[in-house]
Amino acid sequence: MKNIRNFCVIAHIDHGKSTLSDRLLEFTKTIDKRNMVAQTLDNMDLERERGITIKSHAIQMRYVHTDGEVYVFNMIDTPGHVDFSYEVSRSIAACEGALLLVDASQGIQAQTISNLYLAIEHDLEIIPVLNKIDMESAMIDEVSDQIIDLIGCTKEDILLASGKTGIGIQEIMTAVVNRVPAPKGDPEAPLQALIFDSVFNSFRGVIAYFRILNGRMRKGEKVRFFHTSKEYEVDELGILQMNLIPQPYLEAGNVGYIITGIKESREIKVGDTITNAINPCTEAIHGFEDVKPMVFAGLFPIDNDDFEDLRDSLEKLQLNDASLVFEPETSVALGFGFRCGFLGMLHLEIIQERLSREFNMEVITTVPNVSYFATNTKGEAFPVRTPADLPDPNYLQEVQEPYIRAQIITKPEYIGTIMTLCMEKRGILTRQTYLTTYRVELTFELPLAEIVFDFYDRLKSISRGYASFDYSMIDYRASDLVKLEIKLNGENVDALSALVHRSKAESFGRKICTRLKELLPRQQFLIAIQAAVGAKIIARETISALRKDVTAKCYGGDISRKRKLLEKQKEGKKKMRQIGSVEVPQKAFLDVLKLT
Ligand code: GTP
Repeated sequence: MKNIRNFCVIAHIDHGKSTLSDRLLEFTKTIDKRNMVAQTLDNMDLERERGITIKSHAIQMRYVHTDGEVYVFNMIDTPGHVDFSYEVSRSIAACEGALLLVDASQGIQAQTISNLYLAIEHDLEIIPVLNKIDMESAMIDEVSDQIIDLIGCTKEDILLASGKTGIGIQEIMTAVVNRVPAPKGDPEAPLQALIFDSVFNSFRGVIAYFRILNGRMRKGEKVRFFHTSKEYEVDELGILQMNLIPQPYLEAGNVGYIITGIKESREIKVGDTITNAINPCTEAIHGFEDVKPMVFAGLFPIDNDDFEDLRDSLEKLQLNDASLVFEPETSVALGFGFRCGFLGMLHLEIIQERLSREFNMEVITTVPNVSYFATNTKGEAFPVRTPADLPDPNYLQEVQEPYIRAQIITKPEYIGTIMTLCMEKRGILTRQTYLTTYRVELTFELPLAEIVFDFYDRLKSISRGYASFDYSMIDYRASDLVKLEIKLNGENVDALSALVHRSKAESFGRKICTRLKELLPRQQFLIAIQAAVGAKIIARETISALRKDVTAKCYGGDISRKRKLLEKQKEGKKKMRQIGSVEVPQKAFLDVLKLT
């Protein structure tokens, strides 16, 4: 155990974790340079293309130190985006040390700080690494000072590196050996292992990654998962290198994988404890949380006949993404579909994209909303996840909405515009701290509903990219929530209903009406587009009637031309959804919702 080092790599998004990890893998010859593809650990196509890490990844390296001693390094690469922060916290809990990467041209950002706090909470040894020092815009002295201020280390503690050119890799290796403590734990105690990630393999089923804190895990033994109380036989266990390498057993201090024939990732929960079924440990490793979806939206197949295919595709996606939840939903306008829950907007986008790429399934997504809590006049409380769940105002006692604490780090000159943005989003400033003369940290309390959609993009544009952002849930607070309905010639279009705060209803309604006016084709009659809250119309647009008869130009005589034209129209109609008397092109649903 004394030669094992378990560490993770934490950083703000795009500060170069995956690239630096590649260099470490090369340096330890875990992977051959010839077989190297950029960002080896980001093995989903989508991760590579977007250049982001979606899942945590773990890999074992054998490192021969300068004194000839051999060490086993278990390195865990963690996702950077806030949607996936639960995985970061579990990965951190599986380690004794952390390489904290800071991009030398960007300096400390919001997730640098939030991940650092997580690492400190878990008592990890922090090794600060100033990365990307090859860049011309690298501000080595300034960013070193920021790091010293933040973690209270000395200048000598900070390693200088570049994942691109390979500078500093040996120094990182030496620091991991000397500064990260070897794991503690008792191999003779009952088994206690933390699941920090799971992946789905279509041949092997679910593969769970774990870190053993105490005891031993052997092939063929029966193990129990603490929170699900289910027992399984260990079909295979082993260590993670570029491939899975089976082992007869693993003991305290080690990181590995387990295969038990589980076919659905729902059965395995990240954060759960694995113990021995016959000689179980008495306590679970603390910190386990059920991951809750934050954003809900309806997903409908473009063609109604594809409903079963969509169910199939969602089930397959759920096999390797337990955080995706869904249940059937019907819409008058869109037919049969599913109400799905996501971790955040990035997660929603990823699912949409995976449906399209991996299953050739294009979907219409309805206006996303967060999950609210309502209490009716009878005193019954229930969740509100779709506009249809919100009771009539006469029967409604109270609605509560989720609030978050947001940390924004920026340059002082942007404080004013950021304050304006946050106030417009119903936020309250609770703290303002200068980290250095040139960097200020603002803390706001904001409704989650206001930040899940366009907040981050707006923040980036008003601060010219000089603001970073991170958030965590705090509580639920009373909210003046209303259901905004869109009507076409008086007929309600349920797929366009949205849950919005009363103060935002008018501007949102106006936006949708204007957009629909651009998107709907003129028809033989006048179309009234209205946005309403209850009986009150708050926005209205009109599309004037089209008078021309489309077949008129066929001069009555040529029957075949006329038929052809009508056929063509029929084809077009298939792509239309009938809302009362009005035909709405499917594309309009897709496009109108892009504005959110
Ligand atoms: P997430 O996984 O999304 O959190 O990103 P990441 O932190 O893994 O960053 P990644 O390694 O994907 O690098 C982000 C960008 O920075 C890429 O375009 C890299 O090519 C570039 N990059 C990474 N390391 C270096 C470096 O040392 N020097 C320079 N010049 N560019 C780098």
